[in-house]
Formats: sequence, C-alpha cells, structure tokens
Amino acid sequence: MTSDLKDRIRTYWHERAAAFDETASHRREAAAWERILTLATSGIPKGSRVLDLGAGTGACALPMARLGHRVTAVDLAPAMIEQLEAHALRESLEISTVCADVDDLPMRDASLDLVTIRNVLWTVPAPERLLSRVSRSLRPGGILLIADGFWDHDVREHVPDDVHWSHNRFLELYCPIAEQLPLYRGVRTTGIEQLMTEAGFNAFHHWTEHFERSPYAGITDDFFILTASV
Ligand SMILES: C[S@@+](CC[C@H](N)C(=O)[O-])C[C@H]1O[C@@H](n2cnc3c(N)ncnc32)[C@H](O)[C@@H]1O
Repeated sequence: MTSDLKDRIRTYWHERAAAFDETASHRREAAAWERILTLATSGIPKGSRVLDLGAGTGACALPMARLGHRVTAVDLAPAMIEQLEAHALRESLEISTVCADVDDLPMRDASLDLVTIRNVLWTVPAPERLLSRVSRSLRPGGILLIADGFWDHDVREHVPDDVHWSHNRFLELYCPIAEQLPLYRGVRTTGIEQLMTEAGFNAFHHWTEHFERSPYAGITDDFFILTASV
C-alpha cells in the first residue's frame, strides 16, 4: 500500500474512533449481532484461535472473546485499538492487539481456526490477495466470517444527521484514493461468493436473514454476513 493511501485510511479511522460506537450498527443492534455471530461460529470449539482483521472497536473481537476464544485483533488506526482495549479491559476479556496494516501482517499457513472481517474488505487495496492469504492461514475446515455490503458512499441523503461530520471527512480523505480501492463502491451479495471461491473458500452460509430488521436501514439494503470454509 502506498504511504499516502495508508495515511488517509489510518487518519480517517483514527479520527473517527472515539465516536465510532455511537453510530455503529453493532451497538445499535448489539443483541442481534451477538446472537448472529454466536450462531455463525457455533461450529468452532471454545479456545479456538481467532483473528479479527480491521477490528475497529471490537465488533467481532469482543463477542469472540466472550465465547472463550483466543482472539487477536488487528487494526491500522491506533485510536481504534485503544477503544477496543478499553472495552476488553472493562469486561476483563483477554484480547491480543496489533496496530498494523493487514497487508503487512505475517500469517502462518494453517495456523487459525476462524478469521473475521467485518466491513473492511471494501477499504483494502488488494482484496483478492487478502482473501487468498486468509484462506491459506486457516487450518483445513477453518472458517472465514465476512460481513460487508454495497455502500453508496456518495449518497448524502442516506446518511443519518449524526454522522455528517465524519461523512464530510470521509469524502475528503477517501475520494482521492477511491480508484485505488477496487471494492470502494462496496461488495454486492451476488459478487462475494465468486471472489471467495477464487480465493479457495467453499461451503458458503449466509446469516443475514437472522436479523429481525436490517442493521443498516437507510444506509444500504444490500449487505451480507457470510461464513465459508477452506
Ligand atoms: C468500517 S470499520 C470496521 C471496524 C470493525 N470491523 C467493525 O465491523 O465495526 C473499518 C476498520 O478497518 C480498519 N482498516 C482499514 N484498512 C485497514 C488495513 N489495511 N489494515 C488494518 N486495518 C484496517 C480501519 O482502521 C477501521 O477500524
């Protein structure tokens, strides 16, 4: 990743970290997310090795640690890592944290039981490469849980009032680099399985229908939570 790209992405999320949970769907719909993440990962035993990529404030890392897994959370933005660590401390959960670019993260082959990537694929410059690396890092039968959607970043009227500041800042920092992010416009539910198949995944299972109401109402109606194995 070029340093300009990395700086812009890091800056945006670093600035947004302190207020991220106020607008994040995993807080608004906390019980639903927790239930679905638990259900979707019920096939892996307690104590499994879990890696949360682009962890943010811990939307996946915290529920996985509550389930008794050994979780490592990685994020590019120091303030996101700080928020996550504060949440973990409050709940006395042990989560290892790494402040790094996922592209630079060493991942040993067949070393992980579960990888989670929630709402991050759209903002990485080489999503196919990341999926391939994740696929190799999972042990046979290991699971990738991926959530993302079609984010129409330019449609301001869809943005709730309370996120206008971050939306403007988002456009300022992300617009100049949009062309370097192949999935910037988002990932359609119809396209994600093909990307994942090419990276070596199979046995797809969609979990979106387990939401009683959309966690992204007014933002997008095309989002997915998908698990797949290697
Ligand atoms: C939309 S937020 C999602 C956070 C969290 N996964 C969630 O679902 O709430 C995207 C996160 O990915 C992180 N991120 C973006 N690019 C990254 C990269 N190349 N390496 C590591 N983290 C990255 C950002 O700092 C931000 O915390």
